Amino acid sequence: MAGETIEAGKNTTPPKGETRCPGAPTTQEIIARDKVPAPAWVRSESYEFMGDQDIPTDRYIDPAYARKEFDTLWKKTWQFACREEHIPEVGDYYVYDIGPYSFIITRVAQNEIRAHYNACLHRGTKLRASGTVGNAEEFRCSFHGWCWNVDGSHKSTTCHWDFPHVDPKKFTLPQARVERLAGFVFINMDQAAPSLAEYLGPEALAHIQAWKLEDRYVYLHVSKRLPANWKLVIEAFMEAYHVIETHPQVAVSNGDANSQYDVYGDHVDRFISTLGVLSPHLYGKHTEQDILNQFTLGDSGALGSVQRTLSGGATAREVMAQMFRGMFEKATNTDLSKVSDSELLDCFSYTVFPNTFLFPGISLPMVYRFRPDRFDHRKCLYEVLFLRPVPLDGQRPAPAEPIELRDDQSFTEAAGMDQGFGVILDQDTDNLRLQQEGIEASAKRGLTLGNYQEIRVRHFERTVDQYLGQKS
Ligand code: FES
Ligand SMILES: [Fe+2]
Repeated sequence: MAGETIEAGKNTTPPKGETRCPGAPTTQEIIARDKVPAPAWVRSESYEFMGDQDIPTDRYIDPAYARKEFDTLWKKTWQFACREEHIPEVGDYYVYDIGPYSFIITRVAQNEIRAHYNACLHRGTKLRASGTVGNAEEFRCSFHGWCWNVDGSHKSTTCHWDFPHVDPKKFTLPQARVERLAGFVFINMDQAAPSLAEYLGPEALAHIQAWKLEDRYVYLHVSKRLPANWKLVIEAFMEAYHVIETHPQVAVSNGDANSQYDVYGDHVDRFISTLGVLSPHLYGKHTEQDILNQFTLGDSGALGSVQRTLSGGATAREVMAQMFRGMFEKATNTDLSKVSDSELLDCFSYTVFPNTFLFPGISLPMVYRFRPDRFDHRKCLYEVLFLRPVPLDGQRPAPAEPIELRDDQSFTEAAGMDQGFGVILDQDTDNLRLQQEGIEASAKRGLTLGNYQEIRVRHFERTVDQYLGQKS
């Protein structure tokens, strides 16, 4: 078992956080054996031990804590508000809400995007309803008709004679800060916050820039309210530790217990979870052929005439990399011969604190967005956006309209959703409900975390503490 090595009565316990899944290759060892080598951002490691104290649970169950998050954390952080492709033309806007705050993200010029506070400067009415998108020539208030140009400058005041105290030059709509990266529009309400580049740090920024996600478009967008505090929801997606128990159907071809975990500064962390290898929990119970079979059995022909019987010492991972390469070359009409096996196969999950997950892998490129429910700290709005490469003719398809699932619907009901993935999300949802209720029912007021596999949870909560002024 993992943990300690005792030799001749001498305790040689490794320093905390340095133990890895015993008897299993590391993620880096698996990747190093691949035929097409991985780029530097895959081959790096950046783990750091951050203590092993329990995480206090009031942060998940106390409505006052959620209110404090809105007053501090959400007002000071860079948040993914929309994709650039949601607002391609001048005048296009997208309303982004976070808790009580609301912004009209508007393309005010071909190469300029602003985030205006979504409130009339007369008596406060929202200028655009929450959840709306569109194209505007002006933002006219529906109550008394005060009007702003799309760049936020004041255009007109109804019965201006009655407002001699209103200087139109001073009645420009206030703005949050906007930065753009990889096709994403980020906003921050804090005028004194560091730039997005400083916030991410040089290493994480270089990773994100390497993926070229600006060359993708949203082809499927699904949202659903999940039955737990937003931080519990985020943290449920931060580790592969739960795969063997929660999603056993995928463990046969997933290096779960030997996944890699990294942290980058305060705002970014990641895991790399290899595919095409057996879970260390199942060593001795399955063959390489089983791994391949598990992967190809559900295939309805998309894999074409691939080798389905392993021979000559070939591994399932090798064959699966070849299959993925062929499949995606055909689908995208591109040459992927230099794209590494790891990028084709593996799951890379990055958190950009506080509301975004980026998955840059080729096989399932996704973005998650998480937002707390404004009125219920036990609910989280979860969105998954699937990205695809823009077609080679350069014509960018319009981004998919969000499919909004009801609370009682299965993820498998969203049209276009991969059924296996929908089942996985349903399994996570069921656990989240039990976890929220269990934390509220518990006599234990803290969560106990693994030093390695749950480092992203600790890292995330440490940053939450920093924003809430309770440094851990
Ligand atoms: S509240 Fe907007 S014009 Fe009166
Ligand atoms: Fe899960």
